[in-house]
Amino acid sequence: MTGAEAARREGGKGLAPKEQGVTRSGGDAVIHRARLLDFLREPAGHDDLAACRYEEDGALLVKGGGILARGSFDEIRRAHPDLPVEDHRPLLLLPGFIDTHIHYPQMQVIASWGTELLDWLSRYTFPEECRFADPVHAARIARTFFDETLRHGTTTTVAFCTSHPESAEAFFAEAERRGVRALGGKVLMDRGAPPPLLDTPERAFEESRALIERWHGRGRLGYVVTPRFALTSTPAQLDVAAALMTLRSDLWLQTHLSENHAEIETARRLFPDATDYFDIYQRHGLTGSRSLFGHCLHLSERERRAMAETGSVAVFCPTSNLFLGSGLYDNEGLKAAGVRRAIATDVGGGTSFSLLRTLDEGYKVLALRGQRLSPLAAFWWITRGNAEALDLAKRIGTLEPGSEADFVLLDSRATELMALRMERAESLSEELFVLQTLGDERAVAATYVAGERVCFASDTATS
Ligand code: GUN
Ligand code: ZN
Repeated sequence: MTGAEAARREGGKGLAPKEQGVTRSGGDAVIHRARLLDFLREPAGHDDLAACRYEEDGALLVKGGGILARGSFDEIRRAHPDLPVEDHRPLLLLPGFIDTHIHYPQMQVIASWGTELLDWLSRYTFPEECRFADPVHAARIARTFFDETLRHGTTTTVAFCTSHPESAEAFFAEAERRGVRALGGKVLMDRGAPPPLLDTPERAFEESRALIERWHGRGRLGYVVTPRFALTSTPAQLDVAAALMTLRSDLWLQTHLSENHAEIETARRLFPDATDYFDIYQRHGLTGSRSLFGHCLHLSERERRAMAETGSVAVFCPTSNLFLGSGLYDNEGLKAAGVRRAIATDVGGGTSFSLLRTLDEGYKVLALRGQRLSPLAAFWWITRGNAEALDLAKRIGTLEPGSEADFVLLDSRATELMALRMERAESLSEELFVLQTLGDERAVAATYVAGERVCFASDTATS
C-alpha cells in the first residue's frame, strides 16, 4: 500500500500514524494536486506576476524525497495515469519556508520583558544558554525546536547553537533523525559573557573542526561557523573563525552586525583600529557570499558598499528588531546599494516562529520607512529569496524538478476572520497579503519534508 493509499484509507487526511514530527523519505511516487506557487526571481513591483509561476489546477510529482515534475494537473495526470493522487485543493502549495537566522537555545527566552539588546543578553539569554552544557536539556529543546519550526511551515533553518559543542550535537542529531535540511554551528565566544559560556580560540577551533568533520555535508546538514558577534570574540578568535572557513570551501558563516547603538559603540571601542563595525569582520576575513549578518540596521554608506562588494548577506529580523527596539531595516536602501538580503525570525529576540508573522511585522517596519513590501516579494523572500541568500536555490526554495520535496500547504481561510476577509479577495496578491497579515501556524495545513508529510501529536490524536 502506498503512503497515499494509506492516507486515503484514513479519511483523506494524508496521515499515517508515526512518531511525532518525524518523516521518512518515501520511495513511492505521488502526485500532489493543489494550487502551485513558486518564484523565478525577486518580483520587481506589486503586480510583477511574471516573477512567479502560479498553476491554478497544478500537480507536483514527488518521488524518493525529490520533485520529479510539476505542471498542470491534466498534463501530469496524462503522463502518469496510474499514480496515486493526493488532492489538496483549494489549498496553496508553496516551497517550504526558510528561516535564515534563529537561535534554537532561546526557546525559553522568548517573551522576556523590558530590555534592549545588551541587557537582554546578559539578563536573560546568557543565563539560559548556560543550560546547554547538559546534553539532555539540549536534546529536549532541539526536539521541541524542530516540532515548532515544522508546525510553522519552516523546512530549513539556519541556527545558532550555544558555545557548548553538545548543543550543536543535539541540533544536528535531531535534524538528521527527522530528515530535515538544517544548517547550524556552535557559537564562538571567548569574552564578554559569563565564564560557563566562554571558550578559548584554541577550543573554539578544535570543537568547531570536530563538528565540521562530523556533520558538514552529512545528508541534508551543513555547518555554519558562528562567531556570535564582535563583542564576544577577541581578535584572536575572529582569526580562528577565518581559519575554520578555510577547512571546506562550502561552509557558511553567521554573526550579528549593527543591531543596536550601544552594541555599535562597544564594538568600536573594542576594535579601535577598524573603520566601522563591518570592517571588524572584513579585516578578519569573515565577509563574503556565504556570510550572513543578522540585523544590519544602522550601517554607514561605506558599510553598505563593502557588504555589496563582498556579496555578504544582510538578514532582516523584523519581530526581533521591534521587540528589542533595535531599529528599522532599510530594505530599499540595501537593495539599491546592491546588498544581498534575507529575512528571518531571530527567535528568541524574535517573537514568533512563523515566517508569516515575520512578513507581517516586516511589512510594518518597512511602512515606517515609507517602503512597501509587496505580497509577491514577501513570499519570494521566505522561499526562493532566502534559498538564494544561502546559495541553495538549486535544492530548496522552489518547486523545480530536481529540487528536494520540501513544501507547505497553506489555507487562506484557516480562521473565521481569514475566511471572511477572503470573500473580498480578488487576486492572488490579495490572497497572499491576507495570509501574511492574518496568518500564522493555523494557516499551515501541512508541512512536507523530503516528500513526506510531517505528523504532529495533535494530528494523530484525531485520526
Ligand atoms: N547579538 C549577539 N547575540 C545576539 C542574540 O542572541 N540575539 C540577538 N538578537 N542579537 C544578538
Ligand atoms: Zn540573532
